[in-house]
Amino acid sequence: MSEKLWSSVDRYAADLFVNPDKVQDETLRSSHKAKLPAIAVSATQGKLLQILAQGIGAKRILEIGTLGGYSTIWLARALPATGRLITLEYEPKHAEVARANFKRAGVTKKVEVRIGAALDSLKQMVKSKEKPFDFIFIDADKEGYINYLEYSLKLSRPGTIIVADNVVRDGKVADAKSKDPRVIGARKFNKLLAGKKNALSTIMQTVGSKGYDGMSVTLVTGKK
Ligand code: SAH
Ligand code: DHB
Ligand code: MG
Repeated sequence: MSEKLWSSVDRYAADLFVNPDKVQDETLRSSHKAKLPAIAVSATQGKLLQILAQGIGAKRILEIGTLGGYSTIWLARALPATGRLITLEYEPKHAEVARANFKRAGVTKKVEVRIGAALDSLKQMVKSKEKPFDFIFIDADKEGYINYLEYSLKLSRPGTIIVADNVVRDGKVADAKSKDPRVIGARKFNKLLAGKKNALSTIMQTVGSKGYDGMSVTLVTGKK
């Protein structure tokens, strides 16, 4: 079993269920051109995010970690014309690339990028009594995930779905002795998530064009 095989099946699935997708091809091309790291979700993962968000009729979406806006555009596709998506990004350069991509994708009316450390933006959102989000995608620095979880829960309501990317990390997440701060961040996040009494959660391992990783999926059930 190899990454090559996973990638070819990912391509096969994307050719069936995603392609052609000129808008997102251009999103990735422009991200590559601007030298952003190639760490966006895959096409099949992006479509899964859309299906989950659209399936619950999400009107308000929060994303933590924008990069070039690839996953953002998938999520924006789930929204009705009146829907709203706020995406948080630390790097001004990434936000700039993303904004150009949102323009090309025709989603600027729905999408707002907030530049800054995500934790600061989240604190600000709680302070200003931002209405709860229907769907939240956590995908920024893994060291920050536990904070992002606590703030995501504060910005949720029963029925909110929270998805977090990269919680398996080549399987390294099962190694309690790992010294990799990103693995440690993911392990802390998974443990914290597992202990939440007001949420139903699981982890799904994934293989594909982005290698071997996984996402956690959470349904917020109870009172905060
Ligand atoms: N969701 C994107 C990929 C995000 S990559 C996609 O799938 O298309 C992670 C992003 O999080 C990077 O752009 C990185 O700059 C950003 N990031 C890292 N630390 C951050 C922080 N403290 N606050 C906000 N964004 C951060
Ligand atoms: C990394 C970050 C991601 O969000 C991802 O999907 C893959 C890799 C990283 O920081 O290495
Ligand atoms: Mg990711």
